[in-house]
Amino acid sequence: MTGDGDDGDLHDILGRALAALSAAATPAEVDAVRARYLGRGDGELTLLRRRIGSIADPDARRQLGISVNEAWRRLEDDVVARRAALERQRRVAAEADEALDLTWPPPPLRRGHLHPVTRMSREIRRVFTQLGYLVVSGPEVEYDRYNFTLVNMPPGHPARDTQDTFYIDAARLLRTQTSPVQVRAMLALGVPLRVIVPGKVFRRDNDPTHSPVFHQVEGLLVDEGVTVGDLKGTLEYLARSIFGPERAIRLRPHHFPYTEPSLEVDVSCMVCGGDGCRTCRHSGWIEVLGSGMVHPRVLSNAGVDPGRYTGFAFGFGIERAAQLAYGIDDVRLLYENDVRLVRQG
Ligand code: DAH
Repeated sequence: MTGDGDDGDLHDILGRALAALSAAATPAEVDAVRARYLGRGDGELTLLRRRIGSIADPDARRQLGISVNEAWRRLEDDVVARRAALERQRRVAAEADEALDLTWPPPPLRRGHLHPVTRMSREIRRVFTQLGYLVVSGPEVEYDRYNFTLVNMPPGHPARDTQDTFYIDAARLLRTQTSPVQVRAMLALGVPLRVIVPGKVFRRDNDPTHSPVFHQVEGLLVDEGVTVGDLKGTLEYLARSIFGPERAIRLRPHHFPYTEPSLEVDVSCMVCGGDGCRTCRHSGWIEVLGSGMVHPRVLSNAGVDPGRYTGFAFGFGIERAAQLAYGIDDVRLLYENDVRLVRQG
């Protein structure tokens, strides 16, 4: 056996060992490579090392001893490094795979919040149920007769054109307002009565400030001897309950087919308190709702004697009230389902 031959063996062994090591795909395979080449009893390198003592030429013996030791250390280091790399890989993969890792901190708890429209709708219900009103509803698919004719907007009435109606057929439509429920409530419940009607209404506009579906609330009180003073007191109470105790209201004459007289109601600006700002266009007032004394014809259409009973009605948009009360300047925010809006609570 010559020194050259042993050197050749060493290169061959080391080459195969390193190749096997980089091909090892698991820590167990690394251990197998280690056993095969560095194993105590019959590792290939172990056997070669054992042969060193039998080399006769002292230089060749020393040379091979140094080379084998170097190879041994190199292999030992690579085994440790490869094993660690595979362990790390396996851990990372296992963590990624794990459906439920109980060592992770839990995500922060988020409290649920109501959508501003829901919240405003509930506030309005609360205010009026405290005043003894019943909360009632009517159909969203409505008859033309109820939506228009019975609230004093007969066929051909000019105000019909302003409502951008979705018609289903000649007789039926998607209600454009909650006012038809005035008649339905009186027919169903009789008088005296006080009701509020929160609900969806539909109109054929869809632009940055209008949605084809929005929410209104209608109020109706009918009794003997009801006056504009009762209406005014009720609206004042409503405005203060919803927009803050400092609010004042202002009534302006207007026209609605189903009320006489009709009044538009402004509330002192909730942003600037009435001093004038961008929200109120520097007037100090914001138009919030429509109202008036129920038209005698609406009463008689609902089977109520206008000679004996009077009443007041009002109606307003819930989105708009929510925007004003909660300071939301773009209606579209209410419909985009961006959860950040409700998270603001
Ligand atoms: N129906 C009206 C609208 O859709 C709102 C309204 C105005 C309702 C005056 C009323 C009222 O009851 O008296 O714009």
